[in-house]
Amino acid sequence: MHDVVEKVLVSEEDIVKRSMELGKQISDDYRKTGKAPLLVALLKGSVPFLAELIKHIDLDIQFDFMDVSSYEGTESIGDIKIVKDLDCSVKGVPILLVEDIVDTGRTLKEVTRLLKNKGASDVKVVSLLDKPDRRVVDITADYVGFEIPNEFVVGFGLDYDQHYRNLPYIGVLKPEVYK
Ligand code: IMP
Repeated sequence: MHDVVEKVLVSEEDIVKRSMELGKQISDDYRKTGKAPLLVALLKGSVPFLAELIKHIDLDIQFDFMDVSSYEGTESIGDIKIVKDLDCSVKGVPILLVEDIVDTGRTLKEVTRLLKNKGASDVKVVSLLDKPDRRVVDITADYVGFEIPNEFVVGFGLDYDQHYRNLPYIGVLKPEVYK
């Protein structure tokens, strides 16, 4: 499967190393607040990052999933729809949203608004990747793994039409894959 990849942008080793750093920072920050967060991972892209990150969070956290993705091919679609909502109540709960990538920022802005409306006491965001050049709404993740240039990437959870999520690194596909 690796023959579809033109170049590796972020290696598996660097993702693990950065997840350790983020986990430590998140543990330190929330320890100060006296309340562990509920991690809310956005399906499906954030699953590998969630799995790596939680190993390095030294707090008694819980996690849940939401599915709000509306991404097809390489272009974002304006409207965000809730495909799967949370199983538990978030009233008075501090939430740490776990995302694979912040692109236009629309998904995170909408989900943050929704969780605050449901009564979450606080909503923060951790994202493995950030593509700041693509931002169309005003949102910044509180914790970012890596800033990347404006290129479509796959791997470590990120897909192209549901493929290549299981690549163990972040890579750019060869142009012929899109034909
Ligand atoms: P946003 O609402 O435009 O910020 O889109 C966020 C979602 O778009 C992410 O959770 C990804 O599922 C998807 N996405 C954005 N950029 C990429 C990419 O380069 N590769 C794969 N999926 C992407």
